[in-house]
Amino acid sequence: RMSRRSLFGLGAAGAAVAGAGAVGARSLLDEPPVAHAASTSAPYPFYGEHQAGIVTPAQDRLHFVAFDVTTGDRAELIDLLQEWTAAAARLTQGKEAGSFGAVGGDPAAAPDDTGEALGLPASGLTLTVGFGPSLFDKRFGLADRRPAALADLPKFPGEQLVPEISGGDLCVQACAHDPQVAVHAIRNLARIGFGKVSVRWSQLGFGRTSSTSRAQATPRNLMGFKDGTNNLKLEDAALLREQLWADAGDGAAWMTGGTYLVTRKIRMTIETWDRTSLTEQEQIFGRDKGEGAPLGAKREFDPLDFAAKGPDGQPHIASNAHIRLAHPSSHGNAHLLRRGYNFVDGSDGLGRLDAGLFFIAYQRDPRKQFVPVQMRLAREDPLNEYIKHVSSGLFACPPGVRDASDYWGRTLFE
Ligand code: HEM
Repeated sequence: RMSRRSLFGLGAAGAAVAGAGAVGARSLLDEPPVAHAASTSAPYPFYGEHQAGIVTPAQDRLHFVAFDVTTGDRAELIDLLQEWTAAAARLTQGKEAGSFGAVGGDPAAAPDDTGEALGLPASGLTLTVGFGPSLFDKRFGLADRRPAALADLPKFPGEQLVPEISGGDLCVQACAHDPQVAVHAIRNLARIGFGKVSVRWSQLGFGRTSSTSRAQATPRNLMGFKDGTNNLKLEDAALLREQLWADAGDGAAWMTGGTYLVTRKIRMTIETWDRTSLTEQEQIFGRDKGEGAPLGAKREFDPLDFAAKGPDGQPHIASNAHIRLAHPSSHGNAHLLRRGYNFVDGSDGLGRLDAGLFFIAYQRDPRKQFVPVQMRLAREDPLNEYIKHVSSGLFACPPGVRDASDYWGRTLFE
């Protein structure tokens, strides 16, 4: 059977362009994409210097997937990335995955879109791709292109990682305001990848746990606290350049304009948390629960004063409070762009909800950012009594796709 690309006699670029006015376009919106989506149904631009889905104001829903590459053929892997790019350029604009769509194709062949997003708008869908350390093993001749910053994460005290839901050669983060749209996108990428990749693990998330723009209100995690107050944000241009985006001087020139992603599935024992006193909960984080203000201050965005002491002579923000241990000033000014989601994967058969935080953080160099912060937290954070890290992922997210002639990861394979 011919591949979809050869069937249409088009490269990835042509497929994306040809798709623009094709039959079966599911979007009801014809206006061009805008940088700040005007509504939760509008699209975000797919093309750009950086991939979307990183500083994009965090959408409400997540479907994250990690794949193992099952082909050993480098050309097939490149072909897949080109097909994925063409599909992603369409899906993020509210169109079907292939230009024949779920309807209007060859009735003797499987449809080139699975159909469950027909009639739904773009819903702010972003698709962000990443390459795991295992992609740089000897299979594809990429060993000498592995960035130093993509060094395997060390073991952290107390973690209980499950290998089956950790790692992966490739990942795709789908974020959207509609879970059906996010799931549809991942499902179609998996379908397109049949025979070349297989799903290693995937995670659904609801309820963003971070703001990545000052225009957004701070959401709450499942412990009931505002999460994302002191996050790196879209508006922090100088900090993003310094702390988020890789550049040629970092050693791997192909990653210029890219960034590194760490995921951690963190299970919460919320039943125990829910029996913990409010005072203790607030002391653990160093913020109050209602407003999200630093302890000793009044408003959410009041500046942190770690030296301020109460009448008892003790610091308002405890010496081991989460926000003190994680703060950039405790790590030589290392910031993270957090972009996590709440999850509830049903219950565990022992009368407990299988719930927690699917932590996602982007940064320029995990060795200087995630690793020291997490090492400190793993050793000292009193929150550890209520959480358990069960999965871990590390990925190099290449720069953005410039236009319809470009594809995800081109700079890596040139
Ligand atoms: C801040 C919750 C895990 C890094 C916060 C805040 C909350 C919170 C409520 C305060 C609001 C804010 O500024 O965003 C949690 C929960 C976690 C968790 C419930 C686990 C289930 C982690 C992990 C890391 C991390 C694994 C990184 C390794 C940070 C950082 C801040 C922060 C950098 C900002 C500190 C500051 O500059 O003020 N977290 N967190 N957190 N957290 Fe976490």
